[in-house]
Amino acid sequence: MPISKQLSEYLKRGSWIRNLFEEGQRLSKESAEPVYDLTIGNPDLEPIQKFKTALEHAAGGNVPGAHKYMANAGYEETREAVAQSVGRDAGLDGCSKDQVVMTVGAAGAINVALKVLLNPGDEVIVSRPYFVEYQFYAENHGGKVVFVDTKADFDLDPQAIEAAITDKTKVVLINNPNNPSGVVYPQQTLDEVGDVLRRHSAGREAPIFLLDDAPYRKLVYDMDLCTSSLKAYENTLFASSHSKDLGIPGERIGFLLISPRCQGWQRVFAGMAFANRCLGFVNAPALMQRVVASLQDDVIDLDWYRKKRDRIYSALTELGYQTPYPGGAFYLFPKAPGGDDMAFIETLKAKRVLVVPGTGFGQPGYFRIAYCVKDETIDGALQALAAVMRK
Ligand SMILES: Cc1ncc(COP(=O)(O)O)c(C=O)c1O
Repeated sequence: MPISKQLSEYLKRGSWIRNLFEEGQRLSKESAEPVYDLTIGNPDLEPIQKFKTALEHAAGGNVPGAHKYMANAGYEETREAVAQSVGRDAGLDGCSKDQVVMTVGAAGAINVALKVLLNPGDEVIVSRPYFVEYQFYAENHGGKVVFVDTKADFDLDPQAIEAAITDKTKVVLINNPNNPSGVVYPQQTLDEVGDVLRRHSAGREAPIFLLDDAPYRKLVYDMDLCTSSLKAYENTLFASSHSKDLGIPGERIGFLLISPRCQGWQRVFAGMAFANRCLGFVNAPALMQRVVASLQDDVIDLDWYRKKRDRIYSALTELGYQTPYPGGAFYLFPKAPGGDDMAFIETLKAKRVLVVPGTGFGQPGYFRIAYCVKDETIDGALQALAAVMRK
């Protein structure tokens, strides 16, 4: 076999969404009738004009050295701008460029964090439902994922997390706002998780770290839902990107911040910069670093998302679908009527609607809708969802 056993196994396991995408292509070719594809979190929204202006400006200037290698952590000016923005949003003093490494998206940031923290066999606690890539990322660095359940409303369950902690636990990986559920964790829950980790870190050689994967941090639609892991716990690594908040996932620009409240953050930061290098990223894309430095207070059109969220959430609940309140990101995660998500997605597929089964996120019995799509797609999908529910 020309490729490793592990990778051939991953190829089988990791093809969920791609298979659905290919199914959509096939359905489109088969008939001229529209296909309503709600599978992929690839926003159908162009970046804001300010992004385009900043890009033209950054690309047009004839600055000597603009295309050279740089420090592995990235440009100081960009790192400082990121630190100020994250610190302000979290209400956290003392954030500076010294705690930030610019990365190749949030995916790069998570891999950098896990490379820094994990020894072979170390455990990473992940709450279900989860972003599919986490298991691959943890295993990239010799880690082992331990899954725990969330509560009925998909809020984190601090007691379940506590029950899963062993002497091998090194990281608790959370994702707030959450993909696939759209749930934003309340501050009180994050504080309780912080208390658990603090208690279980006491007396250890190294603390248990909270790794918050937060690429949807600015996609929160209700003001009272702005919550922060950095406020909840001192040993927090905050991974994020501009894939969603500026709508530029193809540009691969993100960052990782170690909390200034973490004792010994300097050593963690040194590890982060080195991991960026030895994972082969070397540094985040230079041009994009220059662009996002001036866009830290900006975000794509939140109203565009909010309107879709409101519409689809109220339509689904009126139809009788049970779905947790989606305070952020651009997903809903309703219960599959009848309880069998695999059968349910087939029923929808017959009506030319594509959604992802909860099984793909470790949570059978549910399905994910990505609503970052055109209104016409939502219209067609809602008609089919209504017809299926009536049956
Ligand atoms: C929960 C979650 N984490 C990480 C990522 C990866 O983000 P990026 O494109 O910035 O690497 C995504 C992308 O969809 C995501 O949904």
